[in-house]
Amino acid sequence: MDDLRDRYLAAVAGAADEAALEEVRLAALGKKGEISLKMRELGGMSPEDRQIAGPKLNALKDEIASALAARKAALADAALDDRLRTEWLDVTLPGRPRREGTIHPISQVMEEITAIFADMGFSVAEGPQIESDWYNFDALNIPAEHPTRTEMDTFYMARPDGDDRPPHVLRTHTSPVQIRAMQHQGAPLRVIAPGRVYRSDYDQTHTPMFHQLEGLAVDRDLSMANLKWCLEEFVRAFFEVEKAELRFRASHFPFTEPSAEVDLRCSWKDGQLKVGEGDSWMEILGSGMVHPKVLQAGNIDPSQFQGFAFGIGIDRIAMLKYGIPDLRAFFDSDLRWLRHYGFAGLDVPTLHRGLSR
Ligand code: PHE
Repeated sequence: MDDLRDRYLAAVAGAADEAALEEVRLAALGKKGEISLKMRELGGMSPEDRQIAGPKLNALKDEIASALAARKAALADAALDDRLRTEWLDVTLPGRPRREGTIHPISQVMEEITAIFADMGFSVAEGPQIESDWYNFDALNIPAEHPTRTEMDTFYMARPDGDDRPPHVLRTHTSPVQIRAMQHQGAPLRVIAPGRVYRSDYDQTHTPMFHQLEGLAVDRDLSMANLKWCLEEFVRAFFEVEKAELRFRASHFPFTEPSAEVDLRCSWKDGQLKVGEGDSWMEILGSGMVHPKVLQAGNIDPSQFQGFAFGIGIDRIAMLKYGIPDLRAFFDSDLRWLRHYGFAGLDVPTLHRGLSR
């Protein structure tokens, strides 16, 4: 029995992993294990022999079982130590800023504009980019034969042969969102609608897809004075200057009456734009008082309510503010350009902290 004991304790101590240990357990204590067989022999012994051999054998069995358990725990500890040694991670290492994406200037500028108008009580409205010709044109007082339809270089969607309803269009401006917002919210309302618009045009200052921001306020007793204040506030906040001077130039849009194009006083020095000073004027948006027919198309009674509306070219003012020379680069997905002109993901524009820092 001493021999058995030495052999199995040595085997337990020598087992290199759990599988080897299990083999030792089976050889000793398994159904056909050596110790188990010896236990079975007890039945055939005389009572005197059994009284001596029985307790010894039981003690041996217990000793081997606890040696197995201890070894098993030791192996598990060693395995854990090993994992802890190899699978560590230094959480104090600096991040990898070059691997981060950046926020596209268009997205950044949309957030900036939204923050400014939200502060004036405007909420964000949306509409589809594939629009019916009624929303894109008719409801905005642009009838079928109106020259604006061709001036806007519209993309038309195809209809199946034999379907001669008017085709849908890729919206040529964000103004159709005016109609949708009026229909959904009724008066009074204040909304802005940033988004993509499409016109068939391509050169250094035109891309077939670009971005506009529509603004619409409808209330009792609104006038051009409210429009002017609102746009001046916006421009001051957006360009982050104390003073910004705007020039309202009489113009024509079918959906506003009267209409004005708005220019911003600025100077160009060494390719640098300065807003609020100098002798240059930069056209930045179209605007006016909402045409009564447009209010009607939005189910609003023009004898009770007035509205003002404006449409800003987002790409255009993004280029102005951040000194970006070529519009087409906005949509080239050139990583070097995106890293240079992009914004950090966590720099969310807010008015109190400064829009662009
Ligand atoms: N929709 C006009 C355009 O795309 C801009 C505009 C919007 C003008 C609202 C007046 C009022 O040119």
